[in-house]
Formats: sequence, C-alpha cells, structure tokens
Amino acid sequence: MKSGVTRMYKSLASWWHLLSSPETYTEAAAFYRDTIIGNCTARPVTLLELGSGGGNNASHLKSCFQITLVDLSPEMLTVSRSLNPECEHIQGDMRSLRLSREFDAVFIEDAIDYMTTEGDLSRAIETAFVHCRSGGVALFAPDYTRESFRPTTSHGGHDSEGRGMRYLEWVHAPDPTDTTYIADFAMLLRSGEEVSCEYDRHMCGLFRHEDWLRLITNAGFRVKAVRFEHSEVEPGTFVFVGIKPGT
Ligand SMILES: C[S@@+](CC[C@H](N)C(=O)[O-])C[C@H]1O[C@@H](n2cnc3c(N)ncnc32)[C@H](O)[C@@H]1O
Repeated sequence: MKSGVTRMYKSLASWWHLLSSPETYTEAAAFYRDTIIGNCTARPVTLLELGSGGGNNASHLKSCFQITLVDLSPEMLTVSRSLNPECEHIQGDMRSLRLSREFDAVFIEDAIDYMTTEGDLSRAIETAFVHCRSGGVALFAPDYTRESFRPTTSHGGHDSEGRGMRYLEWVHAPDPTDTTYIADFAMLLRSGEEVSCEYDRHMCGLFRHEDWLRLITNAGFRVKAVRFEHSEVEPGTFVFVGIKPGT
C-alpha cells in the first residue's frame, strides 16, 4: 500500500499551520457544513473526519458537530489536538479503519487525494460507508477530478512568533492515462533569522467524475455530485455526496 504520509506530515508537521492556516478554511468549511446538513435526513450531530490533518476544517465545523478526527500521521494529530483539544483524535488509516460505531456524517476532504488507485479509493469509501448511519451522508471533496484537473503553480505561507514559511506548489500530471498527479512543494522555513529550504513530493489520485459516481454507488450509497461553490475554486469543481439508504 502506498502511504500518504510524506515529510510534510511527519518531520515538517509542526509547520503545517504556517503552510495552511485555519483562517483560510472559513469559506470551504461553511460550504461543507451546509452540504452535509442539507443532505442528511435528520439534523446531524456526530461527524467523523478521515484524514483530518492539522484540523483546519474541524476548527470551523466543531461548533456545529461533535467531531472525531482520524489521521494516519501521529505528528499531524498532535498539531490538530493543539487547535481542537475538545475533539476526539484517533490514529488510523482511512483504508482499513474500523471503529465499530456509526456517525451521522463522514467527511473526507483533500486527504482523499492520497488514494492513488481505484482499490485504495474503494477501500476509503467503504470505510466511510461502514461508519455512516442509515440516512446519514458521506462527503468526499477531492481537489480535482480528471475533468477539472489543470496543471498549476501556486504559492503562499504565513508567519507566527519567530517563525515563517513560504512555499511554491507545482501541480502536474505527467501521464494523462493513469490515475495520479504529482504535487511538488518547495518550502522556505524561517526560524528567527535562519532560513532553510525543503522539498517534498506528493503522489495524488486523479479519477474521472463517472468513476467517483460508480465507486460511491458500489459501496452502497445513493450518490450526488454537487458543484463546489467557492470564490477561489474553478467553477467545474465537484464534491461527491453519498447518502446511506434508510431512515
Ligand atoms: C492535506 S492534509 C489534510 C488537511 C486538512 N484538510 C485540514 O483541515 O487541516 C492530508 C492529511 O491526510 C493524511 N492521510 C494521508 N493518507 C491517509 C490515510 N490513508 N489515512 C488517513 N489519513 C491519511 C495525512 O497524514 C495528512 O495529515
């Protein structure tokens, strides 16, 4: 099995909120919240997030839901705990996790990008199905589908007391026939006056819109593609909602 835990989520994890700050998730988290609530048969209370990373989404969603956060990386769980001490945190792999309990909603945002084969993606969707109650929903929010993918370069970063980070992200898909793309990161890390440079490569999954619909349906969900309404996201971007049949 390929692992989605790169250096960014291990030795560099303590820099996460300087790469991706909680404040930048406000708009997306509001869309995820409304999409989850709007598709559940009853007002959802409990939420399981798989691949919750530094807990940026959770920092916004925790006022609406009782959240359990799962990530493969213990280092990222530590980062998330510092932001979301009131949430339950569990180390686990979204492809194999079994908690023996159900939630009103299951959410996997960009961490689903680390599923690079149809087999791994099916296993993650199955995990969402197993943990979702009847009438509840699973929301999958990949960064791209094969149709919406465009090679791109972006940059960003933040500062805090005595530290700062700036990064360049280069996203490209060398093989148009396979199910992967690559995100290469160059990062400048500043501690006081000292700056070091780090490089990290992320292998990510790229699946066709119809493959998402088929795999979510095969797991047992009723599926819906929903346009991702966000001021900074390309108009043709979709998220996928799986509705678990029943009351
Ligand atoms: C981009 S970060 C998620 C950030 C998150 N959206 C947030 O709100 O902070 C991706 C996360 O996926 C996790 N991940 C990758 N593969 C995983 C797997 N198989 N199971 C669980 N988590 C995984 C990584 O450890 C990493 O923390």
